[in-house]
Amino acid sequence: MPRVTFLPDGVSFEFEKLAYKGHGWPGSLLDVALNFGVALQHSCGGNCACTTCHVVVKEGEANLSPMEDAEADRLDAAAGLTLHSRLACRAVVRGDVTVEIPG
Ligand code: FES
Repeated sequence: MPRVTFLPDGVSFEFEKLAYKGHGWPGSLLDVALNFGVALQHSCGGNCACTTCHVVVKEGEANLSPMEDAEADRLDAAAGLTLHSRLACRAVVRGDVTVEIPG
């Protein structure tokens, strides 16, 4: 059962199966956030067309789906880009992961 932790609030959620909320890829970090009421912006509706869903992975990077070229290209425009940045709408959760939502 994957466990996703969102910082800075330090809230964690475990789940077996999510009810898809219609934004981003099913099972993505954005989908997890929407399922559990975590405030995570997603101005383009989860279509890899903005950078408002930018998160920084603190633990469990290998438990996310690999980054595809479209996500990497889009991320280049993100403020505060790091080597561990992802777009929450593109990163599908496959195991335990901790991410920080930049302030
Ligand atoms: S919500 Fe716009 S890129 Fe993820």
